[in-house]
Amino acid sequence: MTDLTTTYLGLTLKNPLVASASPLSKKVDSVKLMEDAGVSAVVMYSLFEEQITHESNALDYFLNRGTESFAEALTYFPEMESYNVGPDSYVELISKIKESVDIPIIGSLNGVSTGGWIEYAKKIEQAGADALELNIYYIPTDVKMLSKELEDAQVELVANVKQQLNIPLAVKLSPYYTALPAFAKRLCNAGVNGLVLFNRFYQPDIDTETLEVEPTLVLSDSYDLRLPLRWVAILYGKVKADLALTSGVHNEKDVLKAMMAGANVVEITSEFLARGIGRTGEILQGLEEWMLEYEYDSITQMRGSMSHKSVAEPAAFERANYMKALQSYDNKVV
Ligand SMILES: Cc1cc2nc3c(=O)[nH]c(=O)nc-3n(C[C@H](O)[C@H](O)[C@H](O)COP(=O)(O)O)c2cc1C
Repeated sequence: MTDLTTTYLGLTLKNPLVASASPLSKKVDSVKLMEDAGVSAVVMYSLFEEQITHESNALDYFLNRGTESFAEALTYFPEMESYNVGPDSYVELISKIKESVDIPIIGSLNGVSTGGWIEYAKKIEQAGADALELNIYYIPTDVKMLSKELEDAQVELVANVKQQLNIPLAVKLSPYYTALPAFAKRLCNAGVNGLVLFNRFYQPDIDTETLEVEPTLVLSDSYDLRLPLRWVAILYGKVKADLALTSGVHNEKDVLKAMMAGANVVEITSEFLARGIGRTGEILQGLEEWMLEYEYDSITQMRGSMSHKSVAEPAAFERANYMKALQSYDNKVV
């Protein structure tokens, strides 16, 4: 028997396939469907700081930096009343979901500033969430904001959220940190139990006819796996936090690579949105078949086997890889 169990944030999960934050967690019934399909845990879609705190000085401070005015920044946000459900309904939904399913449910908060809104971390815990994922998506546009200043603020936010909680805390990061390992270590020192790598950034597009900057959402493909794969491999064994890989997991090979790099779980959205939650069973079956063929007894056995510290040539994850990749094209040029 192949053993697909894994651990993540102190939870024992029956397999490494976690449904990441997405509209699939907006209804009790769809979470039940995900449980029936075989996912081992579900991360709720995010409750945004902006939904909780329409106006606060702290939010003003962050949003206003580099924007014309706070008022303008706010008008660009979706109508708060119609964007998802309100904060209290969000917490109620978690309670309802917890009553209806047995798999762990991870709440999700998305915000940037310290302030009263982080009390919702406690409310999410009281609603029965098994852990919390904090997404700290932020785009610095102010030429005067130094990376240290931004990172200090994020570490402070994380420490404040952690203080609210008895359940484990994971932080979902963007890939754009100058020195990610050092920042990851700071987050761990602030009490973080898990790191979720990475948030996908949906880059805005410019409509040349209407002269509007438009939001775009393109689902990932397996190529997007490369970025989190490299960083999971680099961080594995170097920080005291579990690692969740998100972005670009679409099939069993992607899951295997994530585990070998050192991830505890993968968090999937695009594949489920594009091809349905039924893909869970197919991916799990593919995993088992591959593990039988290559004589792996368990997921734990392969974890980190291809990490930066385990591979014979760690340079493959570093600058040398870049040079080799460029050189590989030389003989294709006539
Ligand atoms: C439609 C949609 C909604 C999402 N909503 C959230 C969200 O509320 N909070 C969050 O942290 N991530 C959200 N994500 C990001 C996903 O959880 C996931 O991390 C990302 O899509 C990368 O994984 P994938 O390549 O499997 O899609 C969303 C993604 C999509 C496509």
